[in-house]
Amino acid sequence: MKTGVRRVALVGTGFVGMSFAYSMLNQGGLEEFVLIDVNKDKAEGEAMDLSHGLPFGPQKMDIWAGTYEDCRTADIVVITAGANQQPGETRLALVEKNAKIMRGIVREIMKSGFNGILLVASNPVDVLTYVAWQESGLPRHRVIGSGTTLDTARLRFEIGKYLNVDPRNVHGYIIGEHGDTEFPLWSHTTVGVQPIMDVVANNPKFNQEDLEQIYVNVRDAAYHIIERKRATYYGIGMALARIVRAILGDENSCLSVSAYLNGQYGQNDVFVGVPAIVNRNGIREVFELNITEEETEKLTKSVNVLKETLNTVK
Ligand code: NAI
Ligand code: 2OP
Repeated sequence: MKTGVRRVALVGTGFVGMSFAYSMLNQGGLEEFVLIDVNKDKAEGEAMDLSHGLPFGPQKMDIWAGTYEDCRTADIVVITAGANQQPGETRLALVEKNAKIMRGIVREIMKSGFNGILLVASNPVDVLTYVAWQESGLPRHRVIGSGTTLDTARLRFEIGKYLNVDPRNVHGYIIGEHGDTEFPLWSHTTVGVQPIMDVVANNPKFNQEDLEQIYVNVRDAAYHIIERKRATYYGIGMALARIVRAILGDENSCLSVSAYLNGQYGQNDVFVGVPAIVNRNGIREVFELNITEEETEKLTKSVNVLKETLNTVK
């Protein structure tokens, strides 16, 4: 029975999982944090290490290495388990291995009697969110992928740097596959209150070519980081904390998570990164923005890639 104590369970205590856990430790917003991993020693060591930060943190929190049974009363289970990319490897190439892992994990979570929200980050995230939804039998608004939240953050950071503006005042989204076919919605990007296209058109210091280069840098950011340090984790750790806090705090925040499309943008039966309102019930709604014909074509291409990949593991 729920007690009003907020519990989050994390499955996968690797780089991504622990960066998320460390963000939550610092930001707070939950009372119970369960760490689960196929490597029990790793989960135990991480729980011990993390707990030693509690005296410096914002709130009391119980952190322990647990089992799937602990998912029963969890508000959210965050899944970050699975293989990550080797240098040069695409996210899509991980699908076979990680879909199998995802099905096994979700089966165990559901056996516990879990009835909360599933948040998936393992790659390829859009496809694996579909797999998690299918395997869980949960309503679609309670299964969420991290989608393009990280890519959107990368875009805001790069634009902020280019225009010398606080990235929190850049309002724009990367949508589509969290991967090679993602793209920015320039038609809906504003800086402060000015459309970015006006900023670029009215100032000789800025130009459209630079914006295109920013997009390419964002799209390929993971490849560049993985080449240098084998994995990416701080950005996604913060992104997951942002989504979890939006859910637990019933924030009705607009985030570009991977959400199920049921006719929006002319797309059906797919999880893909789009701006959506997130609250205590999961995804409250997916906006249907008035996007350009070119953006619609790009989204269709992205969705087709995801569907083809999903078909290989469905
Ligand atoms: P990692 O190798 O550091 O951690 C993976 C963890 O999963 C390990 O601790 C491993 O023991 C555990 N694991 C594997 N199989 C398991 C199972 N059946 N049950 C429970 N635990 C299991 O990998 P890392 O770097 O943390 O990446 C994790 C995933 O996150 C990868 O798929 C990676 O591509 C993805 N990722 C997603 C991002 C996004 O924006 N959605 C960003 C960065 C990474
Ligand atoms: C990222 O975009 C690899 O999906 C991971 O950093």
